[in-house]
Amino acid sequence: RHPGWPAKLGPLVVPAGTVRLRPVHLRDGREWSRIRVRDREYLERWEPTAAGSWSDRNGFGAWPPQWFSLRALARRGQCLPFAITVDGVFAGQITLGNVIRASLRSAWVGYWVSSELAGGGVATAAVALVTDHAFKAAGLHRLEATVRPENTPSLRVLGKAGYRQEGLFLRYLDVAGDWRDHIAFAVTAEEMGNGFAERLIAAGRARLP
Ligand code: ACO
Repeated sequence: RHPGWPAKLGPLVVPAGTVRLRPVHLRDGREWSRIRVRDREYLERWEPTAAGSWSDRNGFGAWPPQWFSLRALARRGQCLPFAITVDGVFAGQITLGNVIRASLRSAWVGYWVSSELAGGGVATAAVALVTDHAFKAAGLHRLEATVRPENTPSLRVLGKAGYRQEGLFLRYLDVAGDWRDHIAFAVTAEEMGNGFAERLIAAGRARLP
């Protein structure tokens, strides 16, 4: 067991529904695959380059090995792989990855949400919940999120969630077939105040059930 894992976070109510985070399950495979095969256009240009076709990498059979490797990383304390649910139904993922402890106590955050719920506040709620959790139960000090300058919805999510822009990483990640520049956003525990979820609620972007 590592600090902050496993955990269930939320609920927060946003226009799309009631958002909760919980560990990814093996049984998420059917919904995971159905959404990701359908949402290829929506997801592929923002995701890491990988070998094999989209349908092979996102078919039903692709989930068990992915889930297994996420679980193994989580058991080693290197990753907190959450499923996002909306009204109890699997709707995407949010992951804290590359968890490093000692004097860095840092991780990156990454997420995706089903296109059916686009603009409904789900990703912003998920980022707020996971950020509060990272600084409290998981004992981390800094979270970083890197986003392509073209990814307007994701830039907006980080802005709404209270992340600060820190810099521009040139040719940073191999995404959609090439080395892409990324804008680096971050927050540290000192910026938590009453909490990131609380701040979303105060801004009228979310509420408790
Ligand atoms: N142009 C401008 N703004 C847009 C556009 C657009 N084309 N599309 C959406 N938006 C805005 C929405 O209006 C909303 O802002 P608002 O509340 O001010 O109206 C904001 O972008 C989206 O906020 P949410 O509703 O909280 O986010 P959502 O649940 O729709 O999820 C996400 C956003 C995760 C980026 C989703 O679009 C997605 O899964 N995209 C594909 C994968 C991806 O890009 N993941 C992020 C990679 S970067 C990272 O992980 C750090």
